[in-house]
Amino acid sequence: MQWYTGNTFYDTLLALSFGYALIILISSFFGTAQYGGRFGAKSKGLKLGSKVGWVVMEFPGLLVFPIVFFMGENALQPVPLFFLCVWMMHYSNRALITPLLMRVQPGTTSSFAFNVVLAGWLTLTLHGYFNAAYISELGDQYTIDWFSDPRFIGGLVIYLCGFSLNIHSDTILRNLRSPNPSPDEPRYKIPYGGGFKFVSCPQYLGEIMSFVGFAVMTWNLGAVFVLAITMANLIPRAMYTHKWFRKNFDNYPRERKAVIPFIL
Ligand SMILES: NC(=O)c1ccc[n+]([C@@H]2O[C@H](COP(=O)([O-])OP(=O)(O)OC[C@H]3O[C@@H](n4cnc5c(N)ncnc54)[C@H](OP(=O)(O)O)[C@@H]3O)[C@@H](O)[C@H]2O)c1
Repeated sequence: MQWYTGNTFYDTLLALSFGYALIILISSFFGTAQYGGRFGAKSKGLKLGSKVGWVVMEFPGLLVFPIVFFMGENALQPVPLFFLCVWMMHYSNRALITPLLMRVQPGTTSSFAFNVVLAGWLTLTLHGYFNAAYISELGDQYTIDWFSDPRFIGGLVIYLCGFSLNIHSDTILRNLRSPNPSPDEPRYKIPYGGGFKFVSCPQYLGEIMSFVGFAVMTWNLGAVFVLAITMANLIPRAMYTHKWFRKNFDNYPRERKAVIPFIL
């Protein structure tokens, strides 16, 4: 099948992957992914602690993209190298910084399901391959002029706003617990400030905005694939979390939405 880049393998895999994104969307209406925390796995089967689970699941994000990227013939051009830096910054935060800074309540049982790790590996491998192959070889728009293209500039602004919102919201959540939480401290509290003024899950809104920004600034369908997976995963997850907050805290702010301010 050749319908996008002219590379049969790439185009066929991309078409199949959009089908995979649709399956994730449908399955997320039957329950959210069991990667630890309040929605962690309760059934039998291999489970990891939250910190280890996140590092192990996200690690292909730091490996597949650079490996495929440096096999491409445009790898040493300025625009592709810029996207490599954005990617490595994003996945260093996701795979290393965020998990290692997490404050885990003592006595929490391991509930990061291994089947979620496997699904994460598949998604990140596809995502890394699609974007790296397109950016360093198959895409033909990344000349030096791309730096002044409105799609690049607009996408970069959206990306940076989303990334900042994600990090700021993760920091507010982390600081709800003391650096070394005691077992009798309440595990969950109501977060206030920043994006939490408007929605229950600004960290997910920030993640979605980052991927919107990445898709716009690279203008490629491989990035749209991961945006679709991220939205399919995080919008229903935000709705479950919002419902959980309302059920567990009588004084939860009524005006807050789940993930899109004033709308959803
Ligand atoms: N790209 C994607 O598809 C994708 C998918 C999932 C997540 N992410 C990103 O990964 C990051 C983590 O996401 P997540 O879903 O695991 O986490 P989360 O629910 O935001 O929790 C993150 C950390 O904060 C703690 N926490 C959450 N709510 C709290 C509260 N009300 N009071 C006290 N502590 C609280 C959690 O503790 P517990 O573990 O004890 O609950 C956990 O340590 C986010 O930035 C998210 O956007 C991205």
